[in-house]
Amino acid sequence: MRRPWSRRALLGLGGGIAAAGLLGASLPAAAPPRVPSAPRPGPGADVKTVTLTARRRDRRLPGTSAPTPTLGYADDTTLPVIRMRRGQWLRAVLRNQLAEHTTVHWHGLRIANAMDGVPYLTQAPVLPGESFVYEIEPPDCGTFFFHPHCDTVGQLGRGLAGVLIVEGDAAAPFDADLVCAYRDWRIDDAGRFTPLMTDKGASSSGTFGRVRTVNDAVQPVLAVPANGDVRVRFLNLDMTRLIDLGVEGGTAWVIATDGNPIDPVPLDSWRLGPAMRLDLALRAPAEPGGTLRLMNYYAAAPVPMAALRAEGPPLARPAFAPVPLRRSGVPVPAAAGALSFPLQLGAAGAPALPPDLAALEAQGLKVADALCLSSRTFWALNGQPWPSLTSGHLPPPLARFERGRTYRVEIANLTPHPHPIHLHGHSFQVLSSSQRRILPHLADTTLVLPKERVTIAFVADNPGDWMLHCHIVEHQETGMMGYVRIA
Ligand code: C2O
Ligand code: CU
Repeated sequence: MRRPWSRRALLGLGGGIAAAGLLGASLPAAAPPRVPSAPRPGPGADVKTVTLTARRRDRRLPGTSAPTPTLGYADDTTLPVIRMRRGQWLRAVLRNQLAEHTTVHWHGLRIANAMDGVPYLTQAPVLPGESFVYEIEPPDCGTFFFHPHCDTVGQLGRGLAGVLIVEGDAAAPFDADLVCAYRDWRIDDAGRFTPLMTDKGASSSGTFGRVRTVNDAVQPVLAVPANGDVRVRFLNLDMTRLIDLGVEGGTAWVIATDGNPIDPVPLDSWRLGPAMRLDLALRAPAEPGGTLRLMNYYAAAPVPMAALRAEGPPLARPAFAPVPLRRSGVPVPAAAGALSFPLQLGAAGAPALPPDLAALEAQGLKVADALCLSSRTFWALNGQPWPSLTSGHLPPPLARFERGRTYRVEIANLTPHPHPIHLHGHSFQVLSSSQRRILPHLADTTLVLPKERVTIAFVADNPGDWMLHCHIVEHQETGMMGYVRIA
């Protein structure tokens, strides 16, 4: 039996440090990283305070005969949804009652680097029993989420996540505003977790879960007001699965991509890798009982994920036309003067095991597993796998970007598997693909298909060290991760 992978990433940086620690060497001190300190809410600021207590919470999940030892931030729900308005501050008090360290990363938010929640890189890890206060002022409206950023397979895979909605972008009111958060649970009939990470999955397209849920229910039916204008915030919070999101029984319009407004386009189907979000606007059926279905077409046979069912007396509304959301302040990349940065998604070259361990492995001993090393490093960005097993220190940045310049990142996927690539702290424009027609749009995560080249551009306006990684979390944790330094 493998040791649980969660132990391995206990130290966040994975192999090198874990190996050193377990081999008896001393751990490097977890000095707080030197990032600029974040602005704080001034006197009279409108602050919304929440407490996120990360701990084990046994819950009964769909189709199981016994509770599952999930991890969660809140008592009453597996997936807290925080709603706030733009202009407000969020003060989130993280209390760590897990047996390992954790942090909260605010996925997609263009906030101060010190609040980005990456252990060792932007803050010291929050140890068991400790607390950390995040104070953030989201500059953009939209649909976001938050999750831990160390042992992400073990923590996110056991459920530790939440949704963050920043309101204030609707130029016309909706009659309903629904969150539909998709994720699979890797559990068996008895509610026990099945392996969250496998060599086979980590080295190919990831390990898939068995119980497919939206808002932690299997094919839930969500009530919407008959003939009402409905906003659906769809989030792919799974660690592995790709979704071709479509709607059956009516027409939906895409109004935002990863929380960023887009000129409304009718939804045919839209591919969402892990961490990607899509906001839809649609008119609910006029007949009470009428139903629309959210479908996943990325499968041999389309899979229904959830249904929207019209209820109540039909609302009197004029003929439906989607109203664009208010523009955000994301800076527009200028084509002129843009610098280009090639980013190659590849397999890790040599097995990244120290030679003595490699020799033992060659004799058939599963040494690395027993030591909870990141025994398998499968992936690399520009030839650099993360973590490096030879060093307990942060690797150097993949790139140094000059603050305020526009960068065109030419992402080339040299592997036979898709990779959803996420950049922290910025929204980028997805410009073109070598394989598909791309409707230019803003995103914080973009899917790059096998052998595809995708060009994105962004203004490097947020100073700090920002992670850049694949959001198939098994890929992230077996090497496909790095960071860029903006100064
Ligand atoms: Cu949603 Cu670095 O992650
Ligand atoms: Cu990947």
